[in-house]
Amino acid sequence: MRRSFIAGTGMYVPERVVTNHDLEQMMDTSDEWIRERSGIAERHFADAGIGPSDLAVRASRQAVENAGITLDDVDFLIFATLSPERYFPGSGVYLQRKLGIQGIGALDVRNQCTGFVYALSVADQFIKTEMYDTILVVGAEVHSAGLNFSTPGRDVAVLFGDGAGAVVLQPSPDPDRGILSTHLHADGDYAEELCVEAPTTLERPWLTKEMVEEGRIYPTMNGRQVFKHASTKFPQVIVESLEANHLSVEDLDMLIPHQANYRITQMVAKKLRLTEDQYMSNIHKYGNTTAASIPIALHEAVEEQRIEKNDLVSLAAFGSGFTWAAALLRW
Ligand code: ACO
Repeated sequence: MRRSFIAGTGMYVPERVVTNHDLEQMMDTSDEWIRERSGIAERHFADAGIGPSDLAVRASRQAVENAGITLDDVDFLIFATLSPERYFPGSGVYLQRKLGIQGIGALDVRNQCTGFVYALSVADQFIKTEMYDTILVVGAEVHSAGLNFSTPGRDVAVLFGDGAGAVVLQPSPDPDRGILSTHLHADGDYAEELCVEAPTTLERPWLTKEMVEEGRIYPTMNGRQVFKHASTKFPQVIVESLEANHLSVEDLDMLIPHQANYRITQMVAKKLRLTEDQYMSNIHKYGNTTAASIPIALHEAVEEQRIEKNDLVSLAAFGSGFTWAAALLRW
C-alpha cells in the first residue's frame, strides 16, 4: 500500500498583536500570571469580518506553493476548526470557494485541539487507498470572536489566539518516508470539562438573551482536569505510536505537540526525557491556536530547519472531548 507524506507546509496569523499587557486593560489579570501559568507573552487576533477560512486561504496558498504544485492539483480538502464562521455550513466550503477550487470534496473535522491530527489521519487513509492524490489539510481558528474578555472569563480568555496552518499531503515518492501511522483516541466521559454550552439544540429556543447574559456562550474549562489528563495522555499516545513502529523515544528527532500550554509541554518533555532541541514550542508568540497550532509549529520547524530529511517526527495533540492523538512521520 502506498504511503502519504507532507509535501508542503504553510501558516498565517492575523497582523494584530495582543500582548498580556493589553489583556490587563480588559480584565483583572497580569502579564506575570499569564506567563507563569501558560508561557504565553502575546497572541494575534483577527478583526471582525475575518473568519477562519480567510486565515486558512493564506496558509493554504503557502503550503501549495511550498509543495511545488498548483491549486488545480488539489483533489480534496479537510478543514479542522472549533470556531467556524457559521454554525453551518462548515468552513471547508468557504475555504474552497475562496481558493477557487469548487467541485472537489470539502470535509470539516470537529475535534478541537486534536482536530488537525484527526484530519491528517483521515487524509492519510484516502491517500493510502488511492481515493485521492493531493489533499489540503488545514487547521484554522478565530477564537477572539468567542471569548469572554471580562474578569469572569479570564482563566480561558488569556490562553487562546487566532491563526491558521496548512499542509499538502501526497503519495510519498520514497516508500520509507512519510506518515508511518496515526493513533486516535477519545473519552466522552470528560465532554463537559472543556466545552461551550450554548447555543444548544437541547433547549428551545436554542439561543436566548439569558444564555448570552449568563455567559453560557463562552467556553468553560476545568483547568486542573485538563492539565492532569493532558500530561498523561500526551506521553501515552506518543509512546503508543513509537511502539507500533518498533521505535522508542530515543529515536525521536522532533516532537511537535499541540501548543496547549507551555507547562503541559514541559511536563510531557520531562516525562519522555526530551531535550529542548527535541520539541517545538512557539506558544509564547501565538497562544493556543487549537487546531492550527500543530501545522503552525510544524511550518516553523521546517522553516527554521529544525527538521531534516529522514528525521523521525511526532505530531501529538490533546484537547476537548477529551480527545488525544498522534501521528508518527519519517520526514
Ligand atoms: N489572571 C489572573 N488570575 C487568574 C486568571 C488570570 N487569567 N485565571 C484564573 N485566575 C485565578 C483564579 O481565579 C484563581 O484565583 P483564586 O485562587 O483566588 O480562586 C487562581 O488564579 C487559580 O490559580 P491556580 O491556583 O494556579 O489554579 P490552578 O492550579 O487550578 O491552575 C490553570 C489553573 C493555570 C488553568 C491550570 O489548571 C492549568 O494550567 N491548566 C491547563 C489548562 C490549559 O492550559 N488548557 C489549555 C487549553 S485546552 C487544550 O488545549 C488542551
